[in-house]
Amino acid sequence: MKKALVIVISFAFLAAKAQQGINIIPQPKEIKAGIGIFKLDNKTVLVAGNKESMDAAAMLNEYLHQLTGFNLPVNESGGDENKIVFAKPKLANEIEKEGYRLEVTSNKIEISASTAAGYFYGIQSLLQLMPINENKVNTISIPGVSINDAPRFGYRGMHLDVSRHFFPVSFIKKYIDYLATYKFNTFHWHLTDDQGWRIEIKKYPLLTQVGGYRNGTIIGRYPGKGNDGIRYGGFYTQEEIKDIVGYAAKRHITIIPEIEMPGHASAAIAAYPQLSCFPQEATKKAKGTAWAGDSKGKQVQQAWGIFEDVFVPTDYTFNFLENVLDEVMQLFPSTYIHIGGDECPKESWKRSKFCQQLIKEKKLKDEHELQSYFIQRIEKYLNKKGRKIIGWDEILEGGLAPNAAVMSWRGEAGGIEAAKQQHYVIMTPGNPLYFDHSQSKNEDSVTIGGYNPIEKVYAYYPVPKELNNADSSYVMGAQANVWTEYMKNSDKVEYMVFPRIAALSEVLWTNKGTKNYAAFQQKLPALFQRLDQQKINYSKAVYDLKATVIPDPGFNGVLWKLEATNDIPLLINLNNADSAWAYHGPVPINTGVHLAKASYTVNGKTIMLSQKFSINKATGKKITLVNEPSATYPGNGAFTLVDGIHNEKGMSKTSEFLGFKGTDMDVIIDLGKEMKISTVIPHFLQHPGSWIYYPSQVKVSYIPGTATQEEIKNGSFPATVVNAATGLQKNNIKINKEITCRYVRVQAKNYGVIPNGNAGSGNKAWLFSDEIEIL
Ligand code: ACM
Repeated sequence: MKKALVIVISFAFLAAKAQQGINIIPQPKEIKAGIGIFKLDNKTVLVAGNKESMDAAAMLNEYLHQLTGFNLPVNESGGDENKIVFAKPKLANEIEKEGYRLEVTSNKIEISASTAAGYFYGIQSLLQLMPINENKVNTISIPGVSINDAPRFGYRGMHLDVSRHFFPVSFIKKYIDYLATYKFNTFHWHLTDDQGWRIEIKKYPLLTQVGGYRNGTIIGRYPGKGNDGIRYGGFYTQEEIKDIVGYAAKRHITIIPEIEMPGHASAAIAAYPQLSCFPQEATKKAKGTAWAGDSKGKQVQQAWGIFEDVFVPTDYTFNFLENVLDEVMQLFPSTYIHIGGDECPKESWKRSKFCQQLIKEKKLKDEHELQSYFIQRIEKYLNKKGRKIIGWDEILEGGLAPNAAVMSWRGEAGGIEAAKQQHYVIMTPGNPLYFDHSQSKNEDSVTIGGYNPIEKVYAYYPVPKELNNADSSYVMGAQANVWTEYMKNSDKVEYMVFPRIAALSEVLWTNKGTKNYAAFQQKLPALFQRLDQQKINYSKAVYDLKATVIPDPGFNGVLWKLEATNDIPLLINLNNADSAWAYHGPVPINTGVHLAKASYTVNGKTIMLSQKFSINKATGKKITLVNEPSATYPGNGAFTLVDGIHNEKGMSKTSEFLGFKGTDMDVIIDLGKEMKISTVIPHFLQHPGSWIYYPSQVKVSYIPGTATQEEIKNGSFPATVVNAATGLQKNNIKINKEITCRYVRVQAKNYGVIPNGNAGSGNKAWLFSDEIEIL
């Protein structure tokens, strides 16, 4: 029987007027509310004596000018009151590097620091003490306070990919301002990739003239519904880069440029085909994607993913890269230069006679050692020039370059291994620090997948338990990565970054003992008011009505549990009934197919939530995982597979799946008692663009029936398009057998290694399952 059940929940969430007062993000180390209020007006004097404090005073004036139009005088001394003093601590080491003290009383404000950065962070805290005004005012009231502050981690980073989508200089400066507000000190600028080369190199003008533009871009989620056929691109001139580097330096932000090698090199190869192992071969487009314009010769890629055409390790290439890096080093004074090193397929090197000869000559074991040779040769060059390299964690494969720092993105394992080898590490694990992943379960814009809500970001701690004290000191800090395949404009970047950047700032700045999510949540209304005032776009996912499905304790179906922000009462309406009633606890859902709908109003905006449930003999039953899924796609544990929810949004709702990377799925469902069943239907996702494949075999064991029995189905399972609008491919593999049994074991064999010619070829495939039905 199919029955529609409609639950409507609504509540009006009145925007809590942000408390006036102290809402500093990231939370300072020590903060004491004081008495009195300092009134800042156009008579306030800035007192500064040395170079650092004069620069700090100038910076404060710049901020105040934007806020109020004031331009305050800067003097070497001030009167008894109405002054902001930039002071030096009595002892040089009294205040840590990057630390500051901020005292606000009714007579004066004093910011003490031993470095220019310390003053700058003091200013950032002071700015956040100022009230949020819609209009410019003549007097700014600042509450009395005493702050003693210093950061927990030395590397506090945010990344931005400008290759997949290009952002103008004005936005890059805004982005740097965002970093400065939350006391980040590193901007990792991902400047080159397959879809566009974005930095002017004078010696090689074709890098930007040719490599800076693509003839079109796929439409929507990979592999896309066609190609827009619009020439797209842009690059930063060296003058613009110098300006941006200076702008960042004034805000105590180091820019680490990333020049990708040896993979993700299509744009460079399009400009200079000799950089390829096969200069004569035309660029291969990504499988299943639509191409626009010329497809002869080497081309800049128009779809996302990983491509086989990578740098050939010839002297020509090394000479070219050294010349490029010379210009990069002229522009960027950072100690570290990021050289990429991730996702470099080895197919071309395997096919190339030159590469095979080089492997023999250099006595290398395989192509992985060739990659290591490549990175080490570049490292030597940069070390000679006084610089160090950072690479993604793949640079561990085939042997780590002697002085390299590692950015751990495929979880923390690479970072742990590198720290144990006494190499510096920056943690950027996909879960939870990829800000291209969704932050809402109800995300309606296209994202790359994954689910990294703000609370998960907040809970992150960059030092893994696996490291002892000595090795822990190699963890420099952490960084969130912002890959822009699905961020076409700066509004979307802001939406993906805010408010998660604020949560990350407390991960990196605030001491573990002081960090507190409940206290952070209380600061969010004030944060959102500031963002509104500054016209910064942000996600309101933190106010999502939280709907979770939990097992019924009697194993009879599931319960739909709802939680609203601030415990605002919820109203429930079932089946479009005339009257609604108050929600008092989880709603039982235990027969047939249901459609549950919720709507609520937050900050004047109504958000709809709907959930379909499909109840069968497995729903809500006890289920055990023989193999654990990957930590990146853990769903809601084993219960995910029997929660009555069929995924309908594919990668936009990955929290509904268990994901197994290269491993098999193996689960046992306990029906509670022997019962007659006829069909077992495990559901699988197919999305080759995201490296996700159907299993190669599904085996069902029935235990104990009269005796244990097995049914086996072998692939290839046909791709079944279950949603024509989104192209979602799922296969619900039906295994029919009439039998009486209590336990059902489902084993799905991972597809294995991704075959050539596909995204991620040579890597382990993912196996994604959202549900197992038993009829
Ligand atoms: C990466 O996300 N490929 C570093």
